[in-house]
Amino acid sequence: MTERSAGLTLLQITDLHLRASENDSLLGVNTWHSADAVLTSALAERRPDALLVTGDVAHDPHPEVYTRCGRWLDARYDGPRMVIPGNHDVTAAMGSLAGPPVLELGSWTVVALDSHMDDQPGALVDETDMEALRAGCLAARGAHVLVATHHPPVAIDCPWLDRDRIQNGVELLEWLSEHTTVRAMVFGHAHQELAFAHRQILLFGAPSTCIQFEPRSVTFSVDERKPGYRWLELQEDGSLRTRVRRLEDYPLTIDRSQFKPA
Ligand SMILES: [Fe+2]
Repeated sequence: MTERSAGLTLLQITDLHLRASENDSLLGVNTWHSADAVLTSALAERRPDALLVTGDVAHDPHPEVYTRCGRWLDARYDGPRMVIPGNHDVTAAMGSLAGPPVLELGSWTVVALDSHMDDQPGALVDETDMEALRAGCLAARGAHVLVATHHPPVAIDCPWLDRDRIQNGVELLEWLSEHTTVRAMVFGHAHQELAFAHRQILLFGAPSTCIQFEPRSVTFSVDERKPGYRWLELQEDGSLRTRVRRLEDYPLTIDRSQFKPA
């Protein structure tokens, strides 16, 4: 995806797991360094029309980490962005970094779904969250809607992660597929590339900017795949193209002695 298209181009980065110190690592990976390498690499390919950051922004969810992250993002990219909390994030600490709930981008509207609970790995989309999502989708100015969230809305054949899926995700997708112009949903949390569909709604998971989880693993398992990101190319007719890119030359040494389920 190196040439400009007539549609909109969105960049998704996810699960940055930024540490309190820029010298700290996660399973041997310096998460500030890998996040910066990912964003720098992506932006060298092209400038997106918007940036989506789909949760687990911080591994150490202190206000200073989010402030530093905001400055870092501002320095790298001055276009529209949406930052969504993940299970490692704490809403109150995120301050102005979180949001906005909706991005209007011409013929497409991006609507955020907050699936996280502070201090809990699992997802909770309660009636208030559901209503906010429904309202956002129905009020969208764009002819087509993309939903951005943190947790997978359905099982992804990865049992230890599937415990954390959005518990009422199928109900949510059923409603969205019948009542809205939602074309696709992107999420994080899985630390792996995923692409499937629920009825007409396309569902995409993206690699983390740091460590990757082993697909179809029963228990917590990190694999050696490289940090990555997802491009989404949204067309005027509601179709989309997407691809994941990885930093194949990124020097990655997983330190399993730091093993601790994420
Ligand atoms: Fe994560």
